[in-house]
Amino acid sequence: MLLEKKCAVITGCNRGIGKAILDAFVKAGADVFAVIRKENTEFTEHCQALSKQYHVAVEIVYADFLSEEEVLSAAKEILKTKKKIDVLVNNIGISNPLNSLAMTRMQTIHEAFQINLFSSILFTQQISKSMMRKQSGSIVFISSSAAFDGGANIEYSASKAAINGAVKRLAIELGNFGIRVNAVAPGLTATDMGNSMSEEDEAIALSMNVMKRKGEPEEIADVVLFLGSDMSRFMTGQVLRVDGGLR
Ligand SMILES: NC(=O)c1ccc[n+]([C@@H]2O[C@H](COP(=O)([O-])OP(=O)(O)OC[C@H]3O[C@@H](n4cnc5c(N)ncnc54)[C@H](OP(=O)(O)O)[C@@H]3O)[C@@H](O)[C@H]2O)c1
Repeated sequence: MLLEKKCAVITGCNRGIGKAILDAFVKAGADVFAVIRKENTEFTEHCQALSKQYHVAVEIVYADFLSEEEVLSAAKEILKTKKKIDVLVNNIGISNPLNSLAMTRMQTIHEAFQINLFSSILFTQQISKSMMRKQSGSIVFISSSAAFDGGANIEYSASKAAINGAVKRLAIELGNFGIRVNAVAPGLTATDMGNSMSEEDEAIALSMNVMKRKGEPEEIADVVLFLGSDMSRFMTGQVLRVDGGLR
């Protein structure tokens, strides 16, 4: 029960890595604000079942992270409940099929930065107000191995590398308020995103990984849980690579 009596905000948790984080956090005893793009009956039922089974509150909040207005209104909805937020997980991210710079429109690059970086920073600016008030909290961003090795398109690799820079800066700034800021950088993970490569590209990606397999979403979630909990209380400003030993 690493997060007993804690309250977490998790973005993009209706599927993939985010959903594994939601499940891990609820099992660890956390109440959760689940921030997702749009209404989804199956997900609503999943949250109700989690809530019942683990005796925690799971509230769903909607926002399209392409829209700063929607990001702000989701944060406002959460803050107005006056619940003290202990953990924020900025998980939402998009990637596009492999493409060359020459064939990539600037709009595609702007959109990826908006979703992967700017909206998460805006959301953090708002949600961290609750953590500042109580002088504690843990913020976890989801970066990527592509931030280190450029293993994905320009907009993805660059926006994820920018997250790593943001983590360093925010750790210094928010550290003054007792808030820790870290990131997890997954390698190829078995989700809709991680399963979208061609067989050939996937074989190349896996050949560079010591364990020669994809990660499972739960294997990423466990490390996010560690960073979100007091188990990592002396860690901040770190980007933990969870990639099966990518070389
Ligand atoms: N899978 C990998 O191989 C891998 C590797 C390294 C890093 N990551 C990172 O891990 C995180 C989770 O990825 P994943 O693999 O779980 O991806 P995924 O299965 O594609 O899920 C992405 C999540 O982000 C949400 N999202 C995307 N665009 C959004 C928008 N405009 N507004 C609101 N929500 C939006 C999706 O919501 P909808 O369902 O509404 O689209 C979904 O919940 C991302 O940051 C990704 O970059 C993944």
